[in-house]
Amino acid sequence: MPLQPDVVVIGAGAAGLMCALTAGYAGRRVLVLDHANKAGKKILMSGGGRCNFTNLATTPANFFSANPHFCISALKRYRPEHFVELVERHGVDYVEKAPGQLFCAHSARELLGVLLTECDWAGVEIRLATAVEGIERVGEGMRLETSSGRIDTGAVVVATGGLSVPSMGATGFGYDIARRFGLAVTETRPALVPFALTSHWKERASALAGVSCEVRVRTLRDGEPRGRYVEPMLFTHRGLSGPAMLQISSYWEPGDELAIDLLPGLDACGALTAARRDTPRRQLSSWLAERLPRRLAQALIEWHGGDGVLAERSNAELAAWAARLGDWRLKPAGTEGWRTAEVTLGGVDTRAISSKTFAVDGLPPLRFIGEVLDVTGELGGYNFQWAWASGVACGNSL
Ligand code: FDA
Repeated sequence: MPLQPDVVVIGAGAAGLMCALTAGYAGRRVLVLDHANKAGKKILMSGGGRCNFTNLATTPANFFSANPHFCISALKRYRPEHFVELVERHGVDYVEKAPGQLFCAHSARELLGVLLTECDWAGVEIRLATAVEGIERVGEGMRLETSSGRIDTGAVVVATGGLSVPSMGATGFGYDIARRFGLAVTETRPALVPFALTSHWKERASALAGVSCEVRVRTLRDGEPRGRYVEPMLFTHRGLSGPAMLQISSYWEPGDELAIDLLPGLDACGALTAARRDTPRRQLSSWLAERLPRRLAQALIEWHGGDGVLAERSNAELAAWAARLGDWRLKPAGTEGWRTAEVTLGGVDTRAISSKTFAVDGLPPLRFIGEVLDVTGELGGYNFQWAWASGVACGNSL
């Protein structure tokens, strides 16, 4: 690598590697710096080690941002099929685990291998265990002070990701750079994160740890519903997790209630009333166990009492059960926070960034891509698709 690369990418994660290889193929001399000792650590840990690398149904509606139109251009130009084509070209097997959600069939290592091989072919240099200690504009370009010396370059791409899982190298460094150059950073908070419960609800959830069922969940703020997902929920030793809870955490704020329908798609009151009429000698617990995991059905009877034959249940009792099943309300104490969150909501405010080139308005040699920006996807492969799409858009424009 010559002393002066055309482009320095800070962050050897999904977005940074994608940007680097794209710019490399376009003929730029690219250097990637990362303070971690290994590239792509989050790729390796994602999707349970199999990386849900895209979602075929990606649209801008799958993303949260204070500037919802920002992501449209890049997502349109680099679509899930483009990334699938790259994966197929390298012979990496993949599976569609849920509609649209593509995972590596074997290991996320293969996917990271694709990116590193492409970087190699594109002539990209990756320098790990290198800290960036200073950054300033010098003339038309940028100057970096790093733990391995000074680097002058034509452009710096900040691809340092969000704050989740600090043990994997996450830092707020990208936000610090943004602020240093006068950019706003919208409020950040952990998202796609399990809920923590306290007191008796924690004990109850803990006793059911490992039990999972499909639910419909919403958050309620001052009685107003926000968000709505029908997905599996999982009881854990600390509270509630599973796709339904991870998804709704992106809407949840401290103090909000969760409203959980344990029997989505079923009018519980109508179904219980019909069951009392048609099968009056049936035990309530047996009716519940037919529709819910057995341990959960038993726990509900323990928590609320009142088992017995349906014929002996009054209308008021059935209505109370229908409310417990169809509109279970609880207020989480909080989330599990950055330690286990998959992503960061909020980030560098995109209103001062070009949606075509990802350059800062008035400061073209400085770019931001990937999760460091205030663009956050839902669960299901959308966050990687954003990393690929923003990386390619920026890389092509360097
Ligand atoms: P990313 O975090 O990948 O990379 C940032 C890089 O910058 C890192 O290599 C880091 O070391 C480096 N860095 C940070 N600070 C630095 C500094 N000061 N100096 C130098 N380097 C620095 N998404 C999805 O679509 N499907 C999935 O299956 C999953 N699964 C998943 C599981 C878990 C456990 C987590 C934590 C996250 C996911 N995600 C996911 C989210 C996904 O991993 C995430 O959105 C992308 O990795 C973001 O890509 P970026 O390149 O922007 O950041």
